[in-house]
Amino acid sequence: MPRKILVTSALPYANGAIHLGHLVEYIQTDIWVRFQKMSGNECWYVCADDTHGTPIMLRAEKEGITPEQLIARVHGEHYRDFSGFLVGFDNYYSTHSEETRFYANDIYRKLKAAKLIETRTIEQYFDPVKQLFLPDRFIKGECPKCHAKDQYGDNCEVCGAAYAPTDLIEPYSAVSGAKPELRSSEHYFFKLSDPRCEAFLRQYTSRENGVLQNEAANKMQEWLGAPGENKLTDWDISRDAPYFGFEIPDAPGKYFYVWLDAPIGYMGSFKNLCARNGLDFDEYFRPDSPTELYHFIGKDILYFHALFWPAELQHAGYRTPTKIFAHGFLTVDGAKMSKSRGTFITAQSYLDTGLNPEWLRYYYAAKLSATMEDIDLNLEDFVARVNSDLVGKYVNIASRSAGFIAKRFNGQLAPADEKLPAIKAIQEAAGRIAELYEAREFAKAMREIMLLTDAANQYVDSVKPWELAKQEGKEVELHAACSNALNLFRLLTVLLKPVLPVVAGKVEKFLNIAPLEWTDSQSLLAAGHAIDAYEHLMTRVDPKLIEKLIAANKESLAPAPEAQSQQRHAEHQQKEIRSEAADGDLCTIDDFMKVDLRIARIANAEHVEGADKLVRLTLDLGEERTRNVFAGIKAAYDPAQLVGRLTVMVANLAPRKMKFGLSEGMVLAASDTEGKTPGIYLLAPDSGARPGMRVK
Ligand code: 2FM
Ligand code: ZN
Repeated sequence: MPRKILVTSALPYANGAIHLGHLVEYIQTDIWVRFQKMSGNECWYVCADDTHGTPIMLRAEKEGITPEQLIARVHGEHYRDFSGFLVGFDNYYSTHSEETRFYANDIYRKLKAAKLIETRTIEQYFDPVKQLFLPDRFIKGECPKCHAKDQYGDNCEVCGAAYAPTDLIEPYSAVSGAKPELRSSEHYFFKLSDPRCEAFLRQYTSRENGVLQNEAANKMQEWLGAPGENKLTDWDISRDAPYFGFEIPDAPGKYFYVWLDAPIGYMGSFKNLCARNGLDFDEYFRPDSPTELYHFIGKDILYFHALFWPAELQHAGYRTPTKIFAHGFLTVDGAKMSKSRGTFITAQSYLDTGLNPEWLRYYYAAKLSATMEDIDLNLEDFVARVNSDLVGKYVNIASRSAGFIAKRFNGQLAPADEKLPAIKAIQEAAGRIAELYEAREFAKAMREIMLLTDAANQYVDSVKPWELAKQEGKEVELHAACSNALNLFRLLTVLLKPVLPVVAGKVEKFLNIAPLEWTDSQSLLAAGHAIDAYEHLMTRVDPKLIEKLIAANKESLAPAPEAQSQQRHAEHQQKEIRSEAADGDLCTIDDFMKVDLRIARIANAEHVEGADKLVRLTLDLGEERTRNVFAGIKAAYDPAQLVGRLTVMVANLAPRKMKFGLSEGMVLAASDTEGKTPGIYLLAPDSGARPGMRVK
C-alpha cells in the first residue's frame, strides 16, 4: 500500500531574500520528497511565505508600499528562487490567505472552548512617536551587564547576556529613536503551563515516542523540567494594533502573533492544494489520520514546532506531526555567512553567476545527515567534489560509451550482462540506499553511490571501448561493453535522481525511457532498445565562477575616504539633478536616523606612511575602545593641530579594510564641490559638547 505523506519546510519570512543557508532545508526536504514520489508513495510537499508581523509592516512602510504589495513581490521572488534550485513544491502559498485565517480562528476558538486561552494585562515598551508597541528586537540600549551601547532588547551581542528590554540602560526605539514608554495592555495567552499540555508534551516529545531526533528530545526534556517541575510558561499569542496579521475573533484591535498563524500556514497551504487537486483535507488532519505528517525545520525553531504547535493541534482536535526533522545551520568556509566576506550568498546571485543548481544540490546531499549538526560549504571542496564525483565519475560513464552506440550500432543496445559484478552491486545496494534516503542520511547514500560509480568506471576502464573501437572484428565486444556501461549509467541515475532531477530528465530523454522510478533499479534495458543522441549532461565547475560569486555578494563597504569625497560629490550632483526633475527623492527622518552621528574627540592624529592624502585619526567616543579612522584631509590639516579637537563622526559605518589598516568610521568635513573655494573644513560642535553625544 502506498503511504500518504504530507511534508513541509519552514515558511520563510516575506521580507528577505532566499540565501544558501535557507536552501539547506529546502534542498534537503525536496530530495526526501522526490525520493518518496519515486518510490510510489503519495507525497505532497507544501510551503508558503510567512507574511505577518511588525518587521514586515515596517519594511513595507519604509519602502512606501502596503504590506500586501510587499508580500506579493517577495512571494514572486521566493518562488523564482526555489524553482531555480528545482525545489518542487506542490503548493507554494501565503499565510496571508483565507484558508490560514480560517484555521487560525478555528484553532483559537477550539482552544478557547477547551479553556486554554486566558487574557492578562502586561506592561510593554511603546514607541510614542510611531504609536506602536515595540517587539524586543526593535528596542535598543546599553547592555545592563557589560555596558556595550546599542544592544537589542533581548540579548547583548557583545557579552551574550540575556535580559528583558526593561533591563536596558537608556533604551531607545530602533524605529524612531524615541525613548520608549512602558504601557500596559491586555494580551491573550495560550496556557501551555496547563497540566493537560504538560502531560501531553512529556509523552509526545519523549525519546521513546520517536517524533524527535534524540538530541531534540533531550532538549525538550530540559525545557519541560524534571517530572513534577513544570517549567512551561504560557505563550503570549496576541499583539496590539497596528499590526499586519489576522485580527483575533471578538477581540477588536488584537491580532494573532505571527508565530501563531505561521505553522497554521502549513494547513492553509495544504487546504488550498486540496481544493485544487480534489484531495480530502480531513483525511490528513483528523486525529486518527492514517497519513503521515513531517515538518523539516532549522534547529532554532524547535520550540515552536515541538511544543507550541503539537500542543495546539492536540487540544484543538487535530492530528499531531508524525515526526519533526531539525537540521543544523550552514557555515561557509568554516565560518558564519558574512556579508563583508561575500559569503552571505543569495540564491539569485548563485543562479545569476551561472552556477548550476544541481552542483549545490549534490554538494549539500554529500554533507547532509539526520542530525542537527551544522554543515559547511567549503568552496574549494565544492569545486573539487562536484568536478570529481559528478563530472569525472558519473557523467563520464555515459560520455565514454553513448557515442559508439549511436555511431556504430544504429543507436541500438546489445543485451546487458546481468551477472556483471558492477551491475549486481548496484541492484543489491538499491535497498540499502533507499533506507538511507528514508532516514535522511544523504551523505552516506552519496558515499555508497560514488563507490558504485567507481566500480562502474573500473568496468569501463577494464574493457576500454575506445580501444575496441579501433580494432578490427571487435564489434561484438564493443557493443557489449557500451551497452553494459549505459545500463550501469541508467542504474546510477535512478539512485541519483532525487538529487539531480534535471540531469535525470536529460538521461531519460537520451536513453529514450519513461521517467525513472525507484523500482527501475532492479531492471535492465532490453536488447535492441534504441537510444537517442547523447545530450551533454553537465559541465565542470570553473573556479572563476566562485570568485565571481563571492565578489557579487560582497556588501559594498563604505568607500575609502579619498574615494568618499568623490562619491559624495557625485551623489550630490545626482541629487541636484534629481531634485530638479522630481521632488520625491527626499530623505525621511527614519533614513536620517539610521546614520549614527556622534561627537568624537581626536585623541591622536598622524601621517600615514606612503599615503598622499590620508591622516590616521584615533577617535574617542567616550567608549572604552577608541576608533581608528583614515581621513582624506592631509592637504588641509597638519596632524599635530588636530589632536584634542572635537569633531563629528559617522559611528555606524561598516568598517573598511584599507591598505594601511582598518578604517572604522568617517569624519565629516565641508568642501566646495564646484572647487571655487578650495579646501576642506572639518566640522566642529559648539563648546559644551562631549565625546559620544549623538548628533541629530
Ligand atoms: O524562522 C522563520 O523563518 C519562520 N518564518 C519560520 C516559520 S515556520 C512555520 F512555523 F511557519
Ligand atoms: Zn553586554
